Amino acid sequence: METTIVKKTVPPFPKERHWLFGHAGMLKDDAFGMIKFFIKNYGNMVSLSFPFSKVVIASNPEFARYVLQENSKNYTKSIAYDMLKPLLGLGLLTSEGDYWKKQRKLSQPAFHKRKLDEWTEMMIEMAQHTADLIRRHSEQAEAFDVLPLMTALTLDVISKAIFSTGVEDKAKIVSDQVTLLNEYTIEKLHRPIPVPDYIPTPFNLRQKKALGLLDKIVYEIIDKRQAEGVSKDDLLSMLIDAKDEETGESMSRIQIRDEVMTIFLAGNETSSNALTWTIYMLSQNPDAEQKMIDEIDEKLNSGIELNFKTVGEFHYVKQVIEESMRLNPPAWLVGRRSINEDEIGGYHIEKQTNVLIPIVYLHHSERFWDEPTKFKPERFAPEVRNNIDRFVYLPFGGGPRVCIGNNFAMLEMEVILITLYREFRFRLKEGFVVEQDPLVTLRPRYGMMMYAEKR
Ligand code: HEM
Repeated sequence: METTIVKKTVPPFPKERHWLFGHAGMLKDDAFGMIKFFIKNYGNMVSLSFPFSKVVIASNPEFARYVLQENSKNYTKSIAYDMLKPLLGLGLLTSEGDYWKKQRKLSQPAFHKRKLDEWTEMMIEMAQHTADLIRRHSEQAEAFDVLPLMTALTLDVISKAIFSTGVEDKAKIVSDQVTLLNEYTIEKLHRPIPVPDYIPTPFNLRQKKALGLLDKIVYEIIDKRQAEGVSKDDLLSMLIDAKDEETGESMSRIQIRDEVMTIFLAGNETSSNALTWTIYMLSQNPDAEQKMIDEIDEKLNSGIELNFKTVGEFHYVKQVIEESMRLNPPAWLVGRRSINEDEIGGYHIEKQTNVLIPIVYLHHSERFWDEPTKFKPERFAPEVRNNIDRFVYLPFGGGPRVCIGNNFAMLEMEVILITLYREFRFRLKEGFVVEQDPLVTLRPRYGMMMYAEKR
């Protein structure tokens, strides 16, 4: 009997490649430029050759919807997330399957509206401390780097949300070590050839030491809280007290540690980058800046007090943040790995293929946005906001693994912007070069040197 062999079409491989590292080397030098080039020349499903792994770039909203939502059961997180495992263990960001589902269900109540309401006052207070620091720079008429200031602020906010009070000195060590370990992860991403963590290189030993210190402190905090048996109004107590509805089981010490670390990392770097980019975008777009300041003044001068209930009335502030995250999405790329073979857009996807979804490309594409390079917060005005496809604009990802902290992040960023802009506006230092640096998150490569002008 004659059998017909149907050749499965894999997405095209761009012929431009590094002789040794394939496309990996090219992406390392200019990720955005290369991704745009590949898509323009080879279409919206492209194969890349990477050492030891299968990779495709899927760059249209239908593919994103399919992978992240409709067929999400066939996909785990992509290989890049493995890099975060030494730090995050099996926290929400890095775990999979039923384990992840159970942990997500247990953690969800910690992000409910009622909790956000309780945290708003703390967020305003923290933002006010930062305004005090900025005032000093402003009085001295000296330029300062906005990025580390925003990082310190979002770290303070997330620390307080997780640990509330009583462990300030320890929370500081946790935040320092998480920041250091995050830098180590970035350093590892820069390497052309990976070195496994178990080889005792000086770098790996430093990493091990930092992790050891971090674990020691976090476990001390968890153990002390459990021994006291007193529940506080913070994320740590919520994680400790969370119980599985069916089995009544609580999280183990390790699970609590992993979730704490995950929230610490996921909740800090993304928000501080988003805030820094937003302040920059406003400095470059004085009309939008003025419109936002007018809104802030109008509301606050009419006697509205900033709190959880009123923050939603600052529509333009929210639009500014959304537009800023369109142009500079802190999570610029998400990736998944196929469990079984699949078919996307008529192309064959082999099993264990890393499917990369370049959020930044979707956010910048002329196909979906009118004048995509322009900063126009009006795109997100309440009357048109619902017309935007959830898989064309997805700064917080999509499908079941969508960011659990998205409402927390929006609230935090709104509160911070309102608090800062009621007093200042910001101007970029003359000649300062601003460049996007797409690593784990999208950072400004050289920081963001600015002057604060008292309004
Ligand atoms: C502007 C700020 C933020 C941005 C842009 C952002 C973006 C994202 C994105 C894109 C994902 C999905 C990753 C994927 O699909 O692989 C994600 C997941 C996650 N984010 Fe955020 N995030 C932000 C703030 C926060 C905050 C403030 C928290 C915690 C307080 C947080 C906690 C998490 C967690 C735990 C996950 C994993 C969720 C899961 O898989 O169940 N994020 N975030």
